[in-house]
Amino acid sequence: MTKKELASDLLEKLEKFLSEADFGQSPQELYEPLTYILSLGGKRIRPVLSLLSYGMYKSDVETILPQAAAVEVFHNFTLMHDDIMDEAPIRRGKPTVHEKWNDNIAILSGDVMLVRAYDLLLNSPSDKLKQIIRDFNQTAAEVCEGQQFDMNFESRDTVSDAEYLDMIRLKTAVLLGFALKLGAVLADADQEDIDRLYAFGVNIGVGFQLKDDLLDVFADQSKFGKQVGGDIISNKKTYLLIKALELAEGQNAEELNQWLAKKEFDKEEKVAAVTKIYYSLGIKELTEEKMNGYFDKAFESLGEITFKNQEFFDALEGVARKLVHRER
Ligand code: IPE
Ligand code: IPE
Ligand code: MG
Ligand code: MG
Ligand code: MG
Repeated sequence: MTKKELASDLLEKLEKFLSEADFGQSPQELYEPLTYILSLGGKRIRPVLSLLSYGMYKSDVETILPQAAAVEVFHNFTLMHDDIMDEAPIRRGKPTVHEKWNDNIAILSGDVMLVRAYDLLLNSPSDKLKQIIRDFNQTAAEVCEGQQFDMNFESRDTVSDAEYLDMIRLKTAVLLGFALKLGAVLADADQEDIDRLYAFGVNIGVGFQLKDDLLDVFADQSKFGKQVGGDIISNKKTYLLIKALELAEGQNAEELNQWLAKKEFDKEEKVAAVTKIYYSLGIKELTEEKMNGYFDKAFESLGEITFKNQEFFDALEGVARKLVHRER
């Protein structure tokens, strides 16, 4: 199999597992949103990372489909709650759960998804279960910490590069690190390789969120699946805004600060005005440079990794490199 075929074969198996899994039926108000969000077809990057890292060491990859699915279910739970917090209208090209139903439904359905993620992790061998749950809990708490920092920063005037990078490490990157670590732990990889794969995941994760922030401004709306400009509307302190605040002078600075201070505004007008300022300051290129740096760093952090199955390693590399050029 070519590396592309390998990754899409794993993706297909995962989709089948997710669509056949019984997460619960009644009351339908609780479970329908769960099925809904999972059926909207995300990229499934995190579970694919788990399957690929496992496959680097062991060939019975299908045996860890439940644990890989756990990571995806957890991720979808975070999206459901994130969309309430970010007041996001669309996700994966469809209305968000809180828009289609309401906030309370999205809160509770999200809660049960977290529980179902634990159920799926319970399929792990008992000698590994404690470590897996410990690592998962650490990751999940960090995601919450990152999400709170993200919200705190919305109302702050300034946020440093270091604060922003640490915030996205927490809200996004550690879950990609965990996904890779999970596969390696389940496959009995040695500790050094587990650590290398975790570091790789965290670095591509930081790059991944920088790309997410870029897409939020510069994506093609017809391909993106989320509302373009959402971060600008809510004054998210993304790398883009942090750099713009740093670099803007004269009229640009005045205009940018006016938009940030406005309580009432036309959303489209604000998005267009701030995007124009970003273009004039070269923010896109600056952010792409930062993102590329993290992808380079990721490959460096793999160091002298050892593995049995070259094709899985190649596929992992291919999947990671593709993240730089994604359009959604
Ligand atoms: C979106 O994650 C949230 C972030 C952490 C940036 P993805 O971009 O992986 O979303 P899906 O799962 O493919 O929809
Ligand atoms: C989300 O970051 C991170 C988590 C869901 C934990 P964003 O808020 O940027 O993700 P999107 O853009 O809504 O997918
Ligand atoms: Mg958010
Ligand atoms: Mg969001
Ligand atoms: Mg985003």
